Amino acid sequence: MKATAVAPANIAFIKYWGKKDDLLRLPANGSISMNLDKCLTTTTVEFDKKYKKDSFKMIGGKVSIKECRRVSDYLSRFRMMAKSKLFAKVVSKNSFPRSSGAASSASGFAALSLAASSALGLNLSEKELSILARLGSGSACRSVPSGFVEWLEGDSNNTSYAHSLYPPGYWDLLDILVIFSGEMKKTTTTEGHKASRETSLFYSLRVEKAKELLGKLKKAFIKKDFESAGKIIESDCINMHSVMMTTTPPLFYWSPKTLGLIKKVYEWRDEGIRVYFTIDAGVNVHLICKEKTGREVVKKLEETAGIERIIINKPAVGAQTINQHLF
Ligand code: DP6
Repeated sequence: MKATAVAPANIAFIKYWGKKDDLLRLPANGSISMNLDKCLTTTTVEFDKKYKKDSFKMIGGKVSIKECRRVSDYLSRFRMMAKSKLFAKVVSKNSFPRSSGAASSASGFAALSLAASSALGLNLSEKELSILARLGSGSACRSVPSGFVEWLEGDSNNTSYAHSLYPPGYWDLLDILVIFSGEMKKTTTTEGHKASRETSLFYSLRVEKAKELLGKLKKAFIKKDFESAGKIIESDCINMHSVMMTTTPPLFYWSPKTLGLIKKVYEWRDEGIRVYFTIDAGVNVHLICKEKTGREVVKKLEETAGIERIIINKPAVGAQTINQHLF
């Protein structure tokens, strides 16, 4: 009754920001992402009658009561499916800072859904797993399939899930994650999605634009047109952050260092370095470039002040079970 899964975080190229159904986590628009091979969550789940309640621990980190409750409520879905009354022990480990805009809830819920379903002997398809991961945290549905992934917007529980557009080897892109601070962000994304939908002047405009950009990005992927893809990725990032900043109360996820790096990226592009940026709900910046440009970008980052750490990610496979348990 014990299973372990590893799942990658993912970086959204077309973002998910805003839901048309909060409970089912149905997104207002479809999204596209790349799985990150160096940003992984490993999770072991054991259901057993020796446990009198669910428990959840993060190796090397603290979890709040609210997070424990979210995990326990989530496990109940799997118990219901397997007709089980057993409680579980859950232990997780991240290879990157949590809740700093590196989408740890995505890798977290993708790993948890695969580990929990495997521990209970539920034999789920990739689509079923993606749907379950979505119910834990929307972006987690994109960490289930491999490589470059599209989350289909859908209009019901069964039609909103992610599938692989291309395997990891399709395009030699890098995501260089630049970490300024490993601090926890103050507003959770779940609260942010709702506040933006209810209060931002630009919310609906951005959703419509995101749908258009999604179609264009898919075309750029077919042609492997990096310049077009990069411009689209940056554009949707800025649109999403404009929505965040015009939310009441405003969600300014960026720090001065974030903006400083954005300006540097423009300078580097003027010098001929083909690199683009995107940012999730945090201060840290993801730099997207082709593998052959990676060394040049890293050199520029080494000359840039205030960076705590960089993580160089290649496209990764989706959630997988492994035999090495964490306990
Ligand atoms: C900015 O998936 O964390 O990273 O469904 O409420 O758990 P919930 O939200 P979450 O939102 C992620 C938002 C984002 C953009 C993205 O990954 O598409």
